[in-house]
Amino acid sequence: MNLCMIGTGYVGLVSGTCFADIGNKVICVDKDKNKIEKLNSGISPIYEPGLDELIKKNYSAKRLFFTSNIKKAINLSDIIFICVGTPTKKGSIKVDLSYVYKCTKEILKYSKKKKIVVTKSTVPIGTGDEIEKLLGKKKKLFTVISNPEFLREGEAIRDFRYPDRIVIGSNEKKQFNIMKKLYAPLINKGSKFFTTSRRGAELIKYASNAFLATKITFINELANLCEKSGVNIEDISLGMGSDNRIGSRFLRAGPAYGGSCFPKDTKGLVSAAERYKINLSVVKSVIKSNQDRFNLLTKRIHKILGSNLKNKRISFLGVTFKPNTDDMRDSSSLKMIPYLTKKGAIVTYYDPSGEKNVFKKIKNCFYKKDIKSNCFGSDLIILLTEWDEFKSINFKNIVKNRKFKVYDLRNLYTAEEMKKNKIKYYSVGRPDINLARK
Ligand SMILES: NC(=O)c1ccc[n+]([C@@H]2O[C@H](COP(=O)([O-])OP(=O)(O)OC[C@H]3O[C@@H](n4cnc5c(N)ncnc54)[C@H](O)[C@@H]3O)[C@@H](O)[C@H]2O)c1
Repeated sequence: MNLCMIGTGYVGLVSGTCFADIGNKVICVDKDKNKIEKLNSGISPIYEPGLDELIKKNYSAKRLFFTSNIKKAINLSDIIFICVGTPTKKGSIKVDLSYVYKCTKEILKYSKKKKIVVTKSTVPIGTGDEIEKLLGKKKKLFTVISNPEFLREGEAIRDFRYPDRIVIGSNEKKQFNIMKKLYAPLINKGSKFFTTSRRGAELIKYASNAFLATKITFINELANLCEKSGVNIEDISLGMGSDNRIGSRFLRAGPAYGGSCFPKDTKGLVSAAERYKINLSVVKSVIKSNQDRFNLLTKRIHKILGSNLKNKRISFLGVTFKPNTDDMRDSSSLKMIPYLTKKGAIVTYYDPSGEKNVFKKIKNCFYKKDIKSNCFGSDLIILLTEWDEFKSINFKNIVKNRKFKVYDLRNLYTAEEMKKNKIKYYSVGRPDINLARK
């Protein structure tokens, strides 16, 4: 099939490349010319394991194309996927749909023959209806479908190839067959193909993300209780997660949830519900609890290092919101690093996905090119992101400051092994932390 992906970000680029890999002709279009130039010279603008090779393979096979010419891309395609960002509006909890509507207008302007328009972007209930209204002038040319994307950054290719479910929402039953044909290679390997109304599909995506955010927040709050009561949160996660009704995933305590989806989608869901005068009080308290977690963690840093952070050397291992991605959106580091430097600390960081522009303008924040130079002479090492290369560090050999401490926000190490090495160690939701009881 001839497909067009509008928006060549984490979702559009990965799903476009994977669609090409299962035999479709895919044109990826982006208004960011810089991204398109990079892609046409064989460089992926995002860090996603395995993506570079897959792009090269399909680009050389002439199944995958990149352009900033949206007119051409629309004209040559039968199915158009909208994959642009849907961030939170500044100063509000509402979803900013301006990118979605802008490309809808472009689809209207340049379409001359029948097209299926699919929203892959996460959009609130009723957005498909609004898109349909905007396309009203040439109504007969278009069918609008919702096909939310569930891939996770860092595991995006695998997630696209082996999704737990493919959700298609349409108000016209005959469109399900076209989408079923498109996804046949994945369905044949065992992925569930689930059809519903268009609004139903739109809500499934928000409901899923809000539920996962709730699980994380729940276990984070229980970690606070564990620290006070001398219980190990990992036992609780295991004990709870072994119940099939609950499931073990998203039950690991750590920092506040971040990333490009959970923070904005929990807010987007609350705001969409408010339009229908429905109070989603559970999701609201999840948002509040997650925001409070930042304050709680900074308080703990003060408990570890004292109230005066002036000239304290703090080293971050990882600054992205999760491993195997370069995505910084809503990562805890974006709040923690400015806070700590304002308090007078000298912060260094190392992240396997490289230096971050956002920290370049912060005084007393420095990027280091590896674990060793980052941790050398440090007073406190904060393990923020669980990249594989952070899982077996010989801290004693590299820090060279006899009094250094480690604050492990991902529980990558055990208190026993740290004690054996005479390292002052703090983690999350374990009896060893003793911070909450101070
Ligand atoms: N990132 C994820 O893990 C993930 C997972 C599932 C769903 N989603 C959803 O998918 C959507 C896209 O997310 P993302 O992370 O890929 O965003 P992104 O910011 O990485 O990419 C969006 C791209 O769209 C481009 N764009 C915006 N307007 C355009 C236009 N009019 N014409 C052409 N290009 C345009 C931007 O230049 C950008 O490159 C969002 O709604 C998000 O919630 C994201």
